[in-house]
Amino acid sequence: MYTKLWLDYSKQVKVDIFGNALESGSPLVDNAIVELRNCKYMDGLRVELEISKNPEISEEGYKVSFDSGMGKVEAVTETGLIYGTFRFISLYRLNKGARFESLENPASKLRMLNHWDNMDGSIERGYSGNSFFFVDNDIVIDERTRDYARFLCSLGYNGVVINNVNVKDEACNLINEKFINKVKKLNDLFVSYGVKMFLSINYAATIDDDSVASADPLDSKVIDWWDKKIDYIYSVIPDLGGLLVKADSEGRPGPFTYGRNQAEGANMLAKAIKKHGGILIWRCFVYNCQQDWRDLKTDRARAAYDYFHDLDGAFDDNVVLQIKNGPMDFQIREPVTALFGKMPKTNSMIEFQIAQEYTGQQRHVCYLIPWFKEVLDFETYAKGEKPDNSKVVDVVTGKTFDYKLNGMCAVTNTGNDENWTGHDLAAANLYGFGRLAFNPELSSEEIAEEWIKLTFGDDEQVVSNIRKILMMSWPAYEKYSAPLGIGWMVKPGIHYGPDPDGYEYDRWGTYHKATCKTIGLERNTTGTGYTTQYNEPWASLYEKPETTPDELILFFHKLPYDYKLKSGKTIIQHIYDTHFEGAEDVEEMARLWKELEGKIEPAAFKRATDRLAHQVEHSKEWRDVINSYFYRKTLIEDEKGRELY
Ligand code: GCU
Repeated sequence: MYTKLWLDYSKQVKVDIFGNALESGSPLVDNAIVELRNCKYMDGLRVELEISKNPEISEEGYKVSFDSGMGKVEAVTETGLIYGTFRFISLYRLNKGARFESLENPASKLRMLNHWDNMDGSIERGYSGNSFFFVDNDIVIDERTRDYARFLCSLGYNGVVINNVNVKDEACNLINEKFINKVKKLNDLFVSYGVKMFLSINYAATIDDDSVASADPLDSKVIDWWDKKIDYIYSVIPDLGGLLVKADSEGRPGPFTYGRNQAEGANMLAKAIKKHGGILIWRCFVYNCQQDWRDLKTDRARAAYDYFHDLDGAFDDNVVLQIKNGPMDFQIREPVTALFGKMPKTNSMIEFQIAQEYTGQQRHVCYLIPWFKEVLDFETYAKGEKPDNSKVVDVVTGKTFDYKLNGMCAVTNTGNDENWTGHDLAAANLYGFGRLAFNPELSSEEIAEEWIKLTFGDDEQVVSNIRKILMMSWPAYEKYSAPLGIGWMVKPGIHYGPDPDGYEYDRWGTYHKATCKTIGLERNTTGTGYTTQYNEPWASLYEKPETTPDELILFFHKLPYDYKLKSGKTIIQHIYDTHFEGAEDVEEMARLWKELEGKIEPAAFKRATDRLAHQVEHSKEWRDVINSYFYRKTLIEDEKGRELY
């Protein structure tokens, strides 16, 4: 048993469907028709499905409308038609049968989810059960898989990577005879919902073949091996979206081992996949994870830029770089990765994480859309000091530079829990990210409201309280966890719960360097020079604490605890205040939820109630550990005399 999230409307009804699309014979259209016939809200309606040549509609866009019992979905492709059909149903529900008309074209080329599912069924950084693709080293395709494809389609997600970027064990066989036919079946299911499937591959697969025994991208045996392998994959699955690669990172082998650069590695695969129309997604999450914490010069934040910037223009045109939103790793707050806006000649897309690895692991509510919007809204000054279609959102939607490929992806937060996402409120991120990727101009509140209404109905108090909870949640988490952009301070390995020095003397390049007098590290020109990776005016602004935004000040600078922030507070008082506030916010969130008792389906109500109760306690744990840590380091009293330990 599992819930149907925002598509909970299944009931066979009589709906009169007509239009030229019905002649296409495409499985996409068939699925669109099934969707309408199985939606209780469509009862008695007439709906036209039209494939047209309307120049206003882009390849994956659609125009949907409804007036007096008569609906219409218009698109120029079958893919647009099925996205439009789902959107039509949503808008019909949201407008409660009133007239509407909406033309929507997706902002970016790729709108994807990355699964970190392993073939044994576990999920790396998974917080909602096990994989629903893989069980006991086998592939499972059932009704749940279909429902998942429906969820993605309903938001216009057009790509999914089904397996973990860390490809090991049985997952290496996804591209071999052993599994390829089942992979094809899964692919066909996704394709019939307008979602292209991608596979993560082990860059160094050739090492295990004794006749090659190398992964040097310039070695003709390696080139030949991949060429044949990719021909084989595409001979079985001609419409596979492409491949995703994590190389030279966290123990994964890559071109560096052979003295080659990232472009040489990527292009070797890109050439082989190009003749099949496939895309090669290459991750920029490349850094030295064997750092000596005593080494004060190396700065992990610099890594993506240092390894990739000089290669601008060197990648083939069917390669797209997948760049994490921040230079570290999905923290609650980080600056924007400096590579955005600095790669005019290299297709780039942004990678977010809706799996809440560092943001409460789906036991805490943390609606991430407001955070993603801040990132997307960041001005890169890619074309000089005057903004010119040069925000991050413009870069990743191909407006800044003429990218052939661009887009947004997120590491997904789903698993086989009955509610898919562990916390019922975490589904707002799954829904929200899809909507945001399709239309980044939507506000976080609008997205939240849509999701709430489609999931929980449109009772005014339900909508208002859940929206408040969601909108409070990211700021609250930032308040009670690591302060002022410093990040980490989590338990090593599991990344859950406070441990201020957990990553301090480790090899991961994640240090805050707190002493009794100061905290933070200098990343300006007197320090690691990371600030120089940004365009002006950011490079100059980040150079000095006076012009660095408060929320990032400890990311960029080493400062005394009595340093006065722009808010007028000292750093230490800011830490105390925000930590008390953050925990209070969670109490308010739990209270707002409790008010909805009787208005939310009981099982869902109980699940979220239990998790909020945990969050209330756990945010206090965060508050007290962080505050006490700083109190003990500094012996500076809280101005308000609250209890510190
Ligand atoms: C994080 C995460 C890893 C993951 C890695 C990645 O470091 O903790 O589990 O493999 O990101 O993005 O590749």
